[in-house]
Amino acid sequence: MRRIKTKKGIKNKQMLYQRIVAVIIVCLSFFIHVKIQKPVHYPRSKNVQVVGYIWQDGIGQDDWWSNVIQSEDELLILVSSQIWIPQERLTVELAEVENGYFVDARCQVDLQNMLNDCRAAGLSPLICSAYRTQEEQGTLFWRQVDRCAVGGRTQDEAYWEAAKSVAIPGTSEHQLGLAVDIVDVSYQRLNDGQENTPAQRWLMANCWRYGFILRYPREKEGITGYYYEPWHYRYVGRDVAAQIYLRGMCLEEYLAESQEEQTE
Ligand code: DAL
Ligand code: ZN
Repeated sequence: MRRIKTKKGIKNKQMLYQRIVAVIIVCLSFFIHVKIQKPVHYPRSKNVQVVGYIWQDGIGQDDWWSNVIQSEDELLILVSSQIWIPQERLTVELAEVENGYFVDARCQVDLQNMLNDCRAAGLSPLICSAYRTQEEQGTLFWRQVDRCAVGGRTQDEAYWEAAKSVAIPGTSEHQLGLAVDIVDVSYQRLNDGQENTPAQRWLMANCWRYGFILRYPREKEGITGYYYEPWHYRYVGRDVAAQIYLRGMCLEEYLAESQEEQTE
């Protein structure tokens, strides 16, 4: 009788240990996961910092730019689903463009000129999104996560799928006030069809003259980490926009190249 009781006790003890080990494993995996998702910033010098970039579940395989430099030019700040906006950059000096849409005051004039000239060419561009607060970005993002939570996807999978089309709150260029979404009045839908509208064709060909770039091109999905967005324009200033446009680059490539030049 006593022996049986002891055996039972040993069995219970074993089960307890197994549970403890299981809990430790779950906690460790959670910790590692959270750690991996976190952006890392490695200060390098006073003006320049390298941003450690850990690409998880990207659209493509292009992680060659894993140590892309963050430019000292404030307009060229690089943010992505893995690179958070520094706290101080979340406060933006805003200026209204039109219809209650605001942008960083530094790009307001160029943006207004771009829209005016596009209209002067007989076309009808319409801003449908500009500066967004953290809360607004959060609403858009979590709505997208809900949309993506289909077809047997886990919450985690839905989260990262959503992050390929709507930026995680705290990582959107819209929160910098440097991005603007523009559609053609005749086609106010955010899908690939947007690229064939007259206003969009004009904007894609001319945005660089006003300091803007089409930020998420189709052929750069693997680098930017975002699906093609033929409506999202990012302000980088006229000189850089001209270089990026004329050389068929995206911002990551431009920054990586600048880094190479600096280290040569
Ligand atoms: N749609 C872009 C990636 C954004 O939400 O900022
Ligand atoms: Zn956008």
